Amino acid sequence: MELIAADNFTLEELTEAYNQTRVDYLVPMPMNVARLREYIYVYDVDLSASCVAMDGDVMLGLGMLGIRQKRGWITRLGVLPSGRRRGVGSAIMQELIGQAQKRNLKEIWLEVIKGNTAGFNLFRKFEFEVTRELIVARRAPAPLDPLPEHLQVYRVTPLNHEEAIILLSHRQGRPNWLIETESMQNARNLSALLVELENGGRGWVTYHAGLFQLTRIVVEVTVGDPQEVTWAVLHTLHQRYKRQDAVAENLCDDEKWPGYERVGYFDAFRRIEMVKTL
Ligand SMILES: CC(C)(COP(=O)(O)OP(=O)(O)OC[C@H]1O[C@@H](n2cnc3c(N)ncnc32)[C@H](O)[C@@H]1OP(=O)(O)O)[C@@H](O)C(=O)NCCC(=O)NCCS
Repeated sequence: MELIAADNFTLEELTEAYNQTRVDYLVPMPMNVARLREYIYVYDVDLSASCVAMDGDVMLGLGMLGIRQKRGWITRLGVLPSGRRRGVGSAIMQELIGQAQKRNLKEIWLEVIKGNTAGFNLFRKFEFEVTRELIVARRAPAPLDPLPEHLQVYRVTPLNHEEAIILLSHRQGRPNWLIETESMQNARNLSALLVELENGGRGWVTYHAGLFQLTRIVVEVTVGDPQEVTWAVLHTLHQRYKRQDAVAENLCDDEKWPGYERVGYFDAFRRIEMVKTL
């Protein structure tokens, strides 16, 4: 087996290999070339630091490394089902960690879907530590119940991409890689709504509005009860986008989460975030 830098392959080849590693995956996530291209761009994946495991002409698996300042992020790791349990996943991990060390990175992050025992054990073997559990939430378009009297909205201010990025850069707490300000900055056409309540509560939501789906949903509460303001902010968003379904990725299971549930979000699956200090 040989490990070859991923920038020696076309995006078509990488997409094909990736899809083959995920044919039996817990949560189906097939990629196409356009989506992989966007993924690499938005999440700062460095193909020269990423690798493909080859046996002659046959691709056995692959793994990618995102890089931001001194931080790395392992993603898209997978081995074809026929070649598993023979050390290929470990070899790819070793290579990605080596690439991170070569670039003087200080830590490597990753997420693994809760219930993926093979992935989780592999990452534990390489001394990754669990940091937290993250929720991937979805919402189907559905009529909204009116907000209660004490949560009436006083003013809504729509904001553009640049203004949304400023809001995101002032978040409390550490966002996960997928929703870090860098990811949101790289994603195109972000919008935001700043929502003020009659009771003095205040919060905002960023989002990307596609034809059928709202994505890149991040809510922050700046004044007031986290659950109630989240409820009012999301109620405002979904009243404006009645036809789209919605995906909110990598939310913390915190005081805001019940506010998501109040407007119809449900917990689709969870990811375990892990980190290794180099
Ligand atoms: C996770 C995955 C990459 C492991 O690849 P692999 O080539 O089989 O891994 P290795 O043979 O190097 O195994 C390394 C360690 O992983 C763990 N592991 C691998 N498969 C496992 C399984 N089926 N059950 C439990 N632990 C497993 C073990 O700790 C193993 O160490 P051991 O052999 O000393 O027990 C592979 O199962 C895969 O591609 N799965 C689908 C995609 C995926 O889950 N990607 C990772 C999450 S992003």
